[in-house]
Amino acid sequence: MVVAILPLIVSCIPESDFSNSNQSETITIEATNEILIEIPQTSTPDPVETEELEPSPTLESATNSSTNLQPTMIPCSGQLTSPNQEGPFYKAGSPERKSLIDEGMAGIPILIFGRVFDQDCNPMTGVKLDFWHADVDGEYDNIGYTLRGHQFSDENGYFSIESIEPTPYTGRPSHIHVKLFARDGQELLTTQMYFPGSETSGDVQNAPDLLATYLEPDSEGRQQVLFNFIVHP
Ligand SMILES: [Fe+2]
Repeated sequence: MVVAILPLIVSCIPESDFSNSNQSETITIEATNEILIEIPQTSTPDPVETEELEPSPTLESATNSSTNLQPTMIPCSGQLTSPNQEGPFYKAGSPERKSLIDEGMAGIPILIFGRVFDQDCNPMTGVKLDFWHADVDGEYDNIGYTLRGHQFSDENGYFSIESIEPTPYTGRPSHIHVKLFARDGQELLTTQMYFPGSETSGDVQNAPDLLATYLEPDSEGRQQVLFNFIVHP
């Protein structure tokens, strides 16, 4: 099955990430510090497996048009996502929404997407992902819900949310906070996603898996940001 999707995965991964291009041997693709997949190469893809990769209408609607990266093609590392400090600005009760961008808001639009898995790489459905972060001036909205909102993972563990690229503020690299909750409300994880420019920060040095992966901009010009979550159910 994995062989059949290789060309599509390749379309969004820099060539330099391939460690071996010999098709008679195993190829290793390392798209991020949190994704490592081994793909045995064969000359004839299994037609049955290829058939299973056809997206359903639901998946197609969630697909990014510029990369053809279907939700089911996002691989799982099986390594638990590192926790990270909550900070002082979490506020419960955020609205459910697909975009944190309000009309007229300054900032560079980004589209964050990924999947939620358990440690055995089973997709986790119905997980609440609650995001919050600072605006371009490094300020949090502690009165309303600007740049605060949540999403639920779908039947493939997939989620996506639009926002603006986070801005570093005093003493902190660029980051977006997130909390994950199970269907019963149990908290699964509190952590932060870090963005390019944060590589030398102590947070990323201590937990490299928290560095988000930048892909190519999508057809709407939004920077695509891939981030998976692996949690204990
Ligand atoms: Fe923060």
